[in-house]
Amino acid sequence: MKLQIYQILHVASMVVLTAFTFMAFANPDPKGKKKTMMITGMMSLLMLIGGFGMLAVLKYGFPAWVFLKIVCWLGLSGMAGMAYRKPEKMGTWKFMSLAFLLVAILTVYLKSSFE
Ligand code: HEM
Repeated sequence: MKLQIYQILHVASMVVLTAFTFMAFANPDPKGKKKTMMITGMMSLLMLIGGFGMLAVLKYGFPAWVFLKIVCWLGLSGMAGMAYRKPEKMGTWKFMSLAFLLVAILTVYLKSSFE
């Protein structure tokens, strides 16, 4: 049951974080900045709690692939802020967000091949 709670926390907060990040990309109006930063900050934290919760419940220890996921998590968490700071580079932020998501997801499913 604990595992399912962490899984749901991890995946649901990832979906909300991604949704709000791409909403900021679509409309980087400074009026919405405070709300977006609040929601993405909370989701980012919940995602990390879910991730570390799973690591603990599954007794994985701290394998190398987790470092890669932490880099992706840090990167994705910073993307909404970048949309407001440098909206002229939106193409780069979109590409980087998709890359972070893809690498983090591939890490989960391919981790057994490089363990
Ligand atoms: C951009 C960042 C991240 C994305 C997109 C992401 C995505 C995912 C997805 C889709 C799953 C599969 C869910 C499932 O099988 O229930 C997963 C599982 C997992 N994630 Fe993440 N994650 C990210 C960051 C992190 C971080 C920072 C940590 C650790 C602190 C972490 C730890 C885990 C663990 C332990 C699992 C379970 C793996 C397993 O079932 O064998 N993730 N993640």
